[in-house]
Amino acid sequence: MAFDIDMIKKVYTSMAERVDAARKIVGKPLTLSEKILYSHLWDGTPNKAFTRGKDYVDFAPDRVACQDATAQMALLQFMQAGKPKVAVPTTVHCDHLIQAKSGAEVDLKHANNTSSEVFNFLESVSNKYGIGFWKPGAGIIHQVVLENYAFPGGMMIGTDSHTVNAGGLGMVAIGVGGADAVDVMAGMPWELKFPKLIGVRLTGKLSGWTAPKDVILKVAEILTVKGGTGAIVEYFGPGALSMSCTGKGTICNMGAEIGATTSTFGYDDSMERYLRATDRADVADEANKIKSYLTADAEVYDNPEQYFDQVIDINLSELGPLLNGPFTPDLSTTVGKEMTNKAKDNDWPMQVEWGLIGSCTNSSYEDLSRASSIAQQALDKGLKTKAEFGINPGSEQVRYTAERDGILQVFEKLDAKIFTNACGPCIGQWARYSDPKNAPKNSIVHSFNRNFAKRADGNPNTHAFVASPEITAAIAIAGRLDFNPMTDTLINENGEEVMLDEPTGWELPPKGFDVKENGYLEPVEDGSGVEVKVAEDSERLELLTPFTPIGDTIKGAKLLIKAYGKCTTDHISMAGPWLRYRGHLDNISNNTLIGAVNAFNKQTNFVKNQFTGDYGGVPDTQREYKKNGVWTVVVGDHNYGEGSSREHAAMQPRHLGVAAVIVKSFARIHETNLKKQGMLGLTFANEADYDLIQEDDTFNFLDLNEFAPDKSLHMEVVHSDGSKDIIELNHTYNKAQIEWYKEGSALNLIKKQNA
Ligand code: F3S
Repeated sequence: MAFDIDMIKKVYTSMAERVDAARKIVGKPLTLSEKILYSHLWDGTPNKAFTRGKDYVDFAPDRVACQDATAQMALLQFMQAGKPKVAVPTTVHCDHLIQAKSGAEVDLKHANNTSSEVFNFLESVSNKYGIGFWKPGAGIIHQVVLENYAFPGGMMIGTDSHTVNAGGLGMVAIGVGGADAVDVMAGMPWELKFPKLIGVRLTGKLSGWTAPKDVILKVAEILTVKGGTGAIVEYFGPGALSMSCTGKGTICNMGAEIGATTSTFGYDDSMERYLRATDRADVADEANKIKSYLTADAEVYDNPEQYFDQVIDINLSELGPLLNGPFTPDLSTTVGKEMTNKAKDNDWPMQVEWGLIGSCTNSSYEDLSRASSIAQQALDKGLKTKAEFGINPGSEQVRYTAERDGILQVFEKLDAKIFTNACGPCIGQWARYSDPKNAPKNSIVHSFNRNFAKRADGNPNTHAFVASPEITAAIAIAGRLDFNPMTDTLINENGEEVMLDEPTGWELPPKGFDVKENGYLEPVEDGSGVEVKVAEDSERLELLTPFTPIGDTIKGAKLLIKAYGKCTTDHISMAGPWLRYRGHLDNISNNTLIGAVNAFNKQTNFVKNQFTGDYGGVPDTQREYKKNGVWTVVVGDHNYGEGSSREHAAMQPRHLGVAAVIVKSFARIHETNLKKQGMLGLTFANEADYDLIQEDDTFNFLDLNEFAPDKSLHMEVVHSDGSKDIIELNHTYNKAQIEWYKEGSALNLIKKQNA
């Protein structure tokens, strides 16, 4: 069930027929995104044109990928579905649970000791149900998927929001919650609202210090963190053809930061080169046979305005290197003068303390080779790095090859720490401080994708800026945020002024990739005899108990928290030290919403208990309500639940007794996750009603017994002075999703159907 050329041949065989049928039905030339979507319909050959942004459609993805932190809950749910084996090729990747501290060897040993219970659980469940298993240290899920499983024209889902990375190899790859993955693993259709389409036309050519990362940093500036919501971003034009496959992966990867459903590129020579270099000449040969189906029809890219809902133009020749941040990935600043001014105006610490290169976004061989060309210059020109360096190679194959070619040694000569081939600091698995809460204000630069407060090191005062690997290297060497490698000089050990030359590197290793032990375990053919053990007293794993339906009468519900401003999945279910409880619903629920800011006092994890009038932590207060059999409501602002695909952000409130989350707008994955867990995810019909909600409010749902598609709901808000408001609430539940609510969860429904 690992790499499956027969499955790919099957997809390609039906693709031509399905795309031709879709073109007739839609009545116009097709974008690449539409070709992939229409060729993956659950019902086979298309017989209906779908309305973008409106119609819910059942799809049949080709693959599933899960990372260790989300796989625990996904597999715990799959175990309940009553299936002997997964229905489509699926892999599990152990990459999130490895802390970066001393360096790869020591850190990996430590992770294998401290998380052996979880790794063993994932390995045995994978073995039992026919899932390919990538051991800790094998690499970061999306780099491993790109190297081994992604293929042009394919469709996959993954339990990680950066699954979208595989768009770099021409896939439609989408991040989902574990419950969605369970649907596909159980052989059921997977539902998605047919996305809108944004076209990004790339003209010109990248040169000098500018990298693919700058393209997506620019797109993030243009579209902001929610501009891609509900849309697939399709890149095209001469600029797209001039970029490497892994560079395209970087751009697609950070599509998650603009809220896009996914991003993709048409099949081209760079993808063919990458497929051949990663030992998949057979896939390249098959793709070449149907090349015209693996990119948009010619008319589409000639007149994109006619075929996309929105078109953005970027001239790569005019693009300069960018630094995005701090605290949000869409705050874009040009390297050099603009950063100098902005940093001074905003009091961002000018001194940079760390430069981190890695994460699923930028950890390819090309990324490491280009960054090392800068590091090599520091050695050659007698420069000492002012900031510390940390490197996370994307996979064991990248690491082994980079070591063989002397790339890692260049960083080591600059005293860089080479961390495990894993997420590390990108997911807060970074032992930077013993007491992060009281750590000082500082700046770091990294080549990752996310830079929310506390994300990397738990320190709310760390200002994290996102940049390309080569700019990260240059700024780490200079140790200053305002350094412009194109114009500024540095003073070397001899007191001489020197400049850094433009980065150079290799798209692919000149001597080819190599690896000794890639860390992959193939599951046994018949897993029926494999035993999966979960200790009853385990603090990290807990078998699931099905949720009971909330029902159609919610009266007397209390406000748990009215969240103010940004409330990402990190705020709802923090990562970092809490990752260890991802397989234990009750224990991880103790972090529920502790990062959300209470709108009434602007503090985190400090909400009013309406029974006692006392203030306390969100989880404790919620447990009190639950003990008293009282439902609660969470209220939020715009783009609530942006960020990761972790369904814990929905399961935890559900487990603790929150009945409804009512916000101005949702991030797509989180909204679906709430629905899947049988909760109410609703939006204010009138956004200003957010302001009506008071700290002591009680809520009565008035017409939940009439819950139906395209019909708003109404809620009575009773204020502490006895006055009342009735507010209208919108929702996007279709008929099937209302069934999930009625059954208590989507999984309850699957079980019922399989019984
Ligand atoms: Fe891992 Fe960070 Fe990517 S957590 S999967 S490296 S976004």
